[in-house]
Amino acid sequence: MKMNMYDIIYKKREGNPLSEEEIRFFINGYTEGSIPDYQAAALLMAIYFQKMTPEETYFLTDAMKNSGDIVDLSSIEGVKVDKHSTGGVGDKTTLIVGPLAAACGIPIAKMSGRGLGFTGGTVDKMESIPGFRTTLTEQEFLDQVKRIGISVIGQTGQIAPADKKLYALRDVTATVDNMSLITSSIMSKKLAAGSDAIVLDVKCGKGAFMEDLESAEELAKAMVNIGNAAGKKTIALITDMNQPLGKAVGNSLEVIESIETLRGQGPEDITELSLELAGYMIYCGGKAHTPEEGRNLAEEALTGGSALKKMREFIAGQGGNPHVVEDFSLFPQPSYSQTVISEEAGFVASLDARRIGMASQHAGAGREKKEDDIDLSAGVLLSKKVGDEVMPGTPLATVYGNDPDRVKKAAEEALFAFRISKEKPEKGPLIKKVIQ
Ligand code: URA
Repeated sequence: MKMNMYDIIYKKREGNPLSEEEIRFFINGYTEGSIPDYQAAALLMAIYFQKMTPEETYFLTDAMKNSGDIVDLSSIEGVKVDKHSTGGVGDKTTLIVGPLAAACGIPIAKMSGRGLGFTGGTVDKMESIPGFRTTLTEQEFLDQVKRIGISVIGQTGQIAPADKKLYALRDVTATVDNMSLITSSIMSKKLAAGSDAIVLDVKCGKGAFMEDLESAEELAKAMVNIGNAAGKKTIALITDMNQPLGKAVGNSLEVIESIETLRGQGPEDITELSLELAGYMIYCGGKAHTPEEGRNLAEEALTGGSALKKMREFIAGQGGNPHVVEDFSLFPQPSYSQTVISEEAGFVASLDARRIGMASQHAGAGREKKEDDIDLSAGVLLSKKVGDEVMPGTPLATVYGNDPDRVKKAAEEALFAFRISKEKPEKGPLIKKVIQ
């Protein structure tokens, strides 16, 4: 019998699982344009309320992965390891763990994204390095990984085009935050990107899609199961995203903090998370017997300077000015700054990551519409984080940018992100759980 969208929507609306064929019919039809947005939106809403079984989620991921090109990395020797974060504020770990793992012999051939809403994206950050090219031909990309051990580029044309269309539709139909839809969206792209193993950083907290540990764990398990079922060793770390990671939020500010971290002078949280993630990547890539041994190797690469050297080679390989590693004045410079001051005495009890992300975006670091240009020098530099003591007049953060009105508005927003209390708050762990 010929399949049709009406029956598929009806079946899901009534809470019945869809077959592999029905899911493929939907994904193929929607990608090629024979299924209209209104029917796809109706099905997404039915999935949102009725949910999908693990089996359906697997079929959905597989159909989305197969909707476009599959990157072939087989000409690169060794176990290629990818890393993915579900999205956060101040999360510049790719720029640190990439060189760390590559310095330990793990080939990194990675595609990254641009910023989305209040969260930043690696591609935008890398573009703040003068001359750096985030678009390479496939051959240039492969050659650089063979020569230097690491290349990171923007997503090329046809990786999981079904996700591109569906993500845009979910964004405007209030159907983003569904476990199966997030899982299939992320994992279809990861599986199509060609690496042999995947380390996932699932963010949990106020600045993440998953606010509580239970739902973060459910998402992590779903993604790990799908990765392993597809034959790729997949591990997820569930990590805190209640406050921004590190002190820098905004494109060039975050690249500078990444370089400082690779010099051994980075903030404690970003250093700790980067070493842990790199440890798991080195373990997944077969260069260590345990994640702990992997972490030790990453620490040696950090303290011995080989990771910083790798960062220099990586930047130069993609046309960027490698002297940025020693001279931060080579980055785009902001014309305006405004410092936010504490009005009270006490301790920083909480620091809302989402608000800081929004403040950075409003200062010029992010886009409000897809086609907007961004100000690579704009962002927020935090002076205080959760648990730090403050007095009236203590600087909490400085906002940077090139538009004085935007900087002023962003500074007001940044101040609202801080909550000061008399008691010193308990700090939760940065790494909450590991799902293997
Ligand atoms: N990131 C993605 O790529 N997709 C989602 O659905 C959520 C976060």
